[in-house]
Amino acid sequence: MTARPVEDGRYLVTGGAGFIGANFVHLLMERYPKAKVTVLDKLTYAGNPANLDPVRDRATFRFVQGDIADADLVGPLIAEGFDFVINFAAETHVDRSIGDPSSFVKTDVYGVYTLLEAIRPHPVSLFVQISTDEVYGEVLEGAAAEDAPLMPRNPYAASKAGGDRLAYSYWATYGVPVVVTRCSNNYGPYQYPEKLIPLFVTNAIDSQPMPIYGTGKNQRDWIHVRDHGRAILTLLGSDGVEGEIFNIGAGNEKSVLEIADTLLTLTGRPESLLAKVQDRPGHDRRYAVDCAKLTRKTGWVPQVSFEEGVRETVDWYQAHEEWWRPLKSGEFLEYYKRNYRFLPTGAPSGK
Ligand code: NAD
Ligand code: DAU
Repeated sequence: MTARPVEDGRYLVTGGAGFIGANFVHLLMERYPKAKVTVLDKLTYAGNPANLDPVRDRATFRFVQGDIADADLVGPLIAEGFDFVINFAAETHVDRSIGDPSSFVKTDVYGVYTLLEAIRPHPVSLFVQISTDEVYGEVLEGAAAEDAPLMPRNPYAASKAGGDRLAYSYWATYGVPVVVTRCSNNYGPYQYPEKLIPLFVTNAIDSQPMPIYGTGKNQRDWIHVRDHGRAILTLLGSDGVEGEIFNIGAGNEKSVLEIADTLLTLTGRPESLLAKVQDRPGHDRRYAVDCAKLTRKTGWVPQVSFEEGVRETVDWYQAHEEWWRPLKSGEFLEYYKRNYRFLPTGAPSGK
């Protein structure tokens, strides 16, 4: 353990109205009821105030709407004083980054710079840069350890690699206490329905096609979002993590077709919903991370099996139509039509 004030500290969680950030805030406030938590979030299309409903009314919670790349907002906010800044804020969808990389560079690189510059004169106990396993690029064999070369292959991954290295440079150059995490694909409740699992589950519920890019053989390593959150909490309470990088993953390697089959079984839908469509440009074939360093250093291990986690996740989307139906409308449908113009059988109804 460490002398850092994890139990009653002041936390700034950027991007806390998104999928992983909101799940993290729920976990943090459950584990440390005395922690004072500020969420800073721009509320882009992916940010949803409803994700924070479970904690919104707590006296120890505060929400600030704003952009991490806005120095005039971020400077005075950071100057209030925080023990922990955990940066989840990012543009996160690979397909959107292929369509238009500009917001990815602005938020995932310049936004990280703006946060770090604001922190430099106002020291914190720990700044956590939430990076991604995509920075390694495709890993065709074995698993990437933290010292593997960075070979990002799409604008999202490249922007995240920029933010990742920029954060590290503030440790190496200015002594800002930075830790960088690189997690694999998350799944669970509150995930915006453009990502594979929530898109396929909600399409299946509506008996709409599941668009499989290319062969469907691309592999990802899936981790439940609560296991990711627990890993971050563990790092916050661990000594000697400054200037370090930690991979986070759960070793659940699955192809897209395997995921689709599991979801068809769990939703009771027929195989005829599988629709092979044109491949994503530059589609990385496989990601895999070696997480031995995190376990060796902190003892963290994932707790949720894929079978249990995916069943619970499908149940959650089935029980929370009021959460995702409004999201599959308006801008989402425009994006969907654009991105899936090769779909043989049309877009979801968005009803
Ligand atoms: P998300 O898209 O669900 O949420 C991102 C949040 O950031 C949203 O609430 C959005 O409003 C906010 N945001 C975007 N731009 C902002 C800005 N300029 N200023 C302030 N807020 C802004 O993303 P997620 O899946 O929850 O991912 C969270 C973090 O985890 C990201 O940094 C992502 O790169 C990283 N990550 C995600 C995964 C995954 O599988 N989803 C895996 C590894 C790492
Ligand atoms: O690996 C971590 C990364 O995982 C995060 O850093 C990203 O923020 C997150 O979006 C995710 O990136 P992916 O590109 O792996 O996730 P996505 O859900 O978009 O796709 C997962 C796999 O499913 C990938 O091989 C592409 C495929 N896919 C996806 C969609 C949305 C399809 O075949 N059809 C689809 O419609």
